[in-house]
Amino acid sequence: METVDLKEAHTKLGFTRFETAQITAKANLLIANYQIFFHKLQNFHWNVVGGDFFDIHEVTEEMYKEALKNIDDVAERVRTFGNTPAYKLSGYLEESDITEVTHDMSGEYMVREIVSDIEVLLSCLIEVHELAASNGDIATKALIERITVSLEKQHWQLSAFVNQKYSE
Ligand SMILES: [Fe+2]
Repeated sequence: METVDLKEAHTKLGFTRFETAQITAKANLLIANYQIFFHKLQNFHWNVVGGDFFDIHEVTEEMYKEALKNIDDVAERVRTFGNTPAYKLSGYLEESDITEVTHDMSGEYMVREIVSDIEVLLSCLIEVHELAASNGDIATKALIERITVSLEKQHWQLSAFVNQKYSE
């Protein structure tokens, strides 16, 4: 069996294999969570019914397109380390803290579900960010920060939407 020297530095980037393996493990968990989230957004985009159809149909389309781009960026960062991004659908379901939807949902329930899934993603992003920061990995840190800014904004907007629309 091939033995890997975890202290050996990546020839171009200067990180050790141990450092990139740590960041990769968390990045792959982020990818798993994000893939399930992406799939749910598409499900909601297709299957929403009722008075908020156009609002939810449109916002979920914007969000799933953005999710796809962010997943791609995180996966390509993992490849930049010379590691393998998580790619199995079965693996995503097994690893993800975000769970898939198995029943019909009202528009309100969909938005509440998205808000709570964003919270899961945000805590996962913090973990990747902490590892990147402690290993001097500026590029991963910047990528995670960009994704976080956008998700936090969506969290605010969707929370405002459900509170305004449904809590009266
Ligand atoms: Fe569509």
